[in-house]
Amino acid sequence: MKILVTGGAGFIGSHIVDSLLREGHAVAVIDDLSSGSRDNLPAGVPLHVVDIVDPAAVARAFAAEQPDAVCHQAAQMSVSRSVREPLFDAQVNCIGLINVLDSAVRTGCQRFVFASSGGVLYGDVTTPAPETTPANPVSPYGITKWVGERYLAFYAAEHGLSAVALRYSNVYGPRQNPHGEAGVVAIFCKKLLAGEPATINGDGHYVRDYVYGPDVARANVLALVAAPSQCGPGSLTSLNIGTGLGTDVVDLEALVRPAVAAAATARGRTVASPAPLHGPARPGDLRSNLVDAARAAEILGWTPQVPLAEGLALTAAWFADRAP
Ligand SMILES: NC(=O)c1ccc[n+]([C@@H]2O[C@H](COP(=O)([O-])OP(=O)(O)OC[C@H]3O[C@@H](n4cnc5c(N)ncnc54)[C@H](O)[C@@H]3O)[C@@H](O)[C@H]2O)c1
Repeated sequence: MKILVTGGAGFIGSHIVDSLLREGHAVAVIDDLSSGSRDNLPAGVPLHVVDIVDPAAVARAFAAEQPDAVCHQAAQMSVSRSVREPLFDAQVNCIGLINVLDSAVRTGCQRFVFASSGGVLYGDVTTPAPETTPANPVSPYGITKWVGERYLAFYAAEHGLSAVALRYSNVYGPRQNPHGEAGVVAIFCKKLLAGEPATINGDGHYVRDYVYGPDVARANVLALVAAPSQCGPGSLTSLNIGTGLGTDVVDLEALVRPAVAAAATARGRTVASPAPLHGPARPGDLRSNLVDAARAAEILGWTPQVPLAEGLALTAAWFADRAP
């Protein structure tokens, strides 16, 4: 199968590209490189440096590649930027999505997999939220992910597309950008490798469901190749992708710190491993968010394979290999 991965030069997208290539699929990528990097892509993968907001450029990339399926990861993914610039957020996450959907149906794609978000759809939940939890997005980013799923349902019904929305929990792993506001594991790894303390926002008792990036990539591959009897044409299937296990930021930091120290030691370096600092709480941060992925297990046969401690060790090792 030939799959076009938008946002394929980014963190999750590039793990999807790797998984697809391992499974023997042909892959092409659309990415404007606003946060992604060419270095995340294996040599030989065609990369169209295109802004998905530009319909003609998107159409040209589809015409050149003629994919069978689309995996749509490209997005404006900063919650705080969405609050500051809701118009920009909607341009990339709604108009950009519609441009990609239009080109997908015009070139005869059968399957469309979309990166949605359990975190922003379900809000504060203390037990793992199933997909039936009423959506309650409170940021423009959450609203555009929700609207994105509604557009997917429309295109599926109107054009017979088989659409799958994967509602990720908090994804972490190698290649995550440590410079943004999200990606606490990447941010902590970078700080600790520089010998600086991690900064925990507020009291740090914010519970999240951390899922390893390559596990999320595998869920995307399964969704892309699922039989029509599992993810049928003409409808949208929304599935949570997470572990259902909650970890608060204080406990997370206490796991990342020794993982980083061990990764540094294994490379002949010593890092100071200072205790964390506490900064101000971030306004609007949810106290608890975790997802129930039982439906993904039932429909796709997907379960997370990499436990948190192992994923943190692999992530720390990746960052340690690249530390100055
Ligand atoms: N990381 C998480 O915890 C998480 C959780 C829920 C959902 N998601 C979703 O997963 C997807 C991938 O996120 P990620 O964590 O890999 O982030 P990322 O920033 O690493 O990847 C996004 C990619 O999209 C590209 N991109 C952004 N705007 C674009 C545009 N206008 N045109 C073309 N390309 C554009 C970027 O250059 C980047 O390569 C996003 O849709 C995000 O909303 C991520």
